[in-house]
Amino acid sequence: MNKLLIFLVLLSVPLRSAGKDFPDRFDSFTKLQDLEVEEEEEEDGDNELEVLSWESARSNKVLVNVDGFGAVGDGVSDDSQAFVNAWKQACSTPKSVLLVPEGRRYLVNATRFKGPCADKLVIQIEGTIVAPDEPKSWDPKNPRNWLSFYNLTKAVTIDSSSAIRVKGLTIQNGQQMNFVIGRSDSVRVIDVKVSAPEDSPNTDGIHITDSTNVVLQNCRIGTGDDCISIVNGSTSIKMKNIYCGPGHGISIGSLGKDNSTGIVEKIVLDKAFLRGTTNGLRIKTWQTSAVEISQIMYRNVTGTSKSQKAMKFACSDTVPCTHIVLNNINLQRSDGTVETYCNSAAGFGYGYIQPSAECLSSSDKDKIIMQKKETETAQTSTEHLIHTEL
Ligand SMILES: *[C@@H]1O[C@H](CO)[C@@H](O)[C@H](O)[C@H]1NC(C)=O
Ligand SMILES: *[C@@H]1O[C@H](CO)[C@@H](O)[C@H](O)[C@H]1NC(C)=O
Ligand SMILES: *[C@@H]1O[C@H](CO)[C@@H](O)[C@H](O)[C@H]1NC(C)=O
Ligand SMILES: *[C@@H]1O[C@H](CO)[C@@H](O)[C@H](O)[C@H]1NC(C)=O
Ligand SMILES: *[C@@H]1O[C@H](CO)[C@@H](O)[C@H](O)[C@H]1NC(C)=O
Repeated sequence: MNKLLIFLVLLSVPLRSAGKDFPDRFDSFTKLQDLEVEEEEEEDGDNELEVLSWESARSNKVLVNVDGFGAVGDGVSDDSQAFVNAWKQACSTPKSVLLVPEGRRYLVNATRFKGPCADKLVIQIEGTIVAPDEPKSWDPKNPRNWLSFYNLTKAVTIDSSSAIRVKGLTIQNGQQMNFVIGRSDSVRVIDVKVSAPEDSPNTDGIHITDSTNVVLQNCRIGTGDDCISIVNGSTSIKMKNIYCGPGHGISIGSLGKDNSTGIVEKIVLDKAFLRGTTNGLRIKTWQTSAVEISQIMYRNVTGTSKSQKAMKFACSDTVPCTHIVLNNINLQRSDGTVETYCNSAAGFGYGYIQPSAECLSSSDKDKIIMQKKETETAQTSTEHLIHTEL
């Protein structure tokens, strides 16, 4: 079984005031055609980060250090109980900071940290938390969860939450989905690192589902599947300064399996480096579905792709993807042959675009359908298999 190691620095701050104006800012940000607005928003975003920095979050806080509860931090002693006790204290104390200090390795069994907690709990995990190798110390009912934050955040899942900030989380060799953001609104993820072996199947780095107003910033992801995957019900997702590789790339989808409906809108990838990804940038939908994908922007993306189709916009025949905007893209392959694949995808590129994305150049639905027919011969059944990945 995978040896699991998690280095966590997790900062979860349900700051109400910050959460309130965050969506408004984001809305203006994602007016993709209006790039001036976008530039302004970047600066706003940086200011907000400063506001949310640890120093300001720490003022008037009650520090709850796991070491004060008998945690040893030698990587061998069982620190599970110390963590549980520290959690109880922190969770029940308003404005507390649960601190896992840096420089040590804490061995912790699969543990549920239950909420709800008192107001303004901050979880600041700077040290390394080590998972046991022994499968029996895992919860047999839920072997995929190691550290679960219930009614707060679940494992490294942020579920049904709003106004959450996660900062400096590092996940190594997680199983299945490494970090899931689901059914949440206003989530900001900063300085997160995810690494799983290249040969680990179905291990997406960061998976976003049914969530709105999510910002991923300064994230480094290396995994065996998509570095980032965004699926149904996700709107206003901004990814900035993303390093991906190895991995399949950055994907929207899969969507529309068994002709299911779905919608993904307002996605911005700004400044990304893809190293040796198998697929680069992708939109994956089932061709016969009617999923709606629009307002997707990829900007300042460089790096390498292992497959020829470094960009792939595979959209539904009946509901084309619209407003896909590319700006300054440079994706290469070692033999120099890269291309963009489009099916029923409308949008445009400007600035340097490599591989060229002329297949996007029309926003006219009929023309797109014509192009689709031209490329249909290339659309073999393996294409459909590719759509089933995830
Ligand atoms: C952690 O798991 C080990 C191995 O199953 C077990 O011996 C130990 O009691 C567990 N620790 C706690 C605090 O439950
Ligand atoms: C979550 O917390 C609420 C109280 O705020 C409680 O009613 C509910 O049962 C909790 N849910 C779980 C799954 O523990
Ligand atoms: C996709 O998401 C939308 C909006 O959240 C929802 O109404 C719809 O039922 C979802 N579709 C599927 C197949 O889950
Ligand atoms: C999906 O819809 C297409 C066209 O409407 C139809 O041919 C196909 O059988 C449907 N597939 C499923 C799995 O329902
Ligand atoms: C995006 O790329 C362009 C051209 O390479 C460069 O001039 C610009 O500074 C880049 N923007 C950012 C935010 O890196």
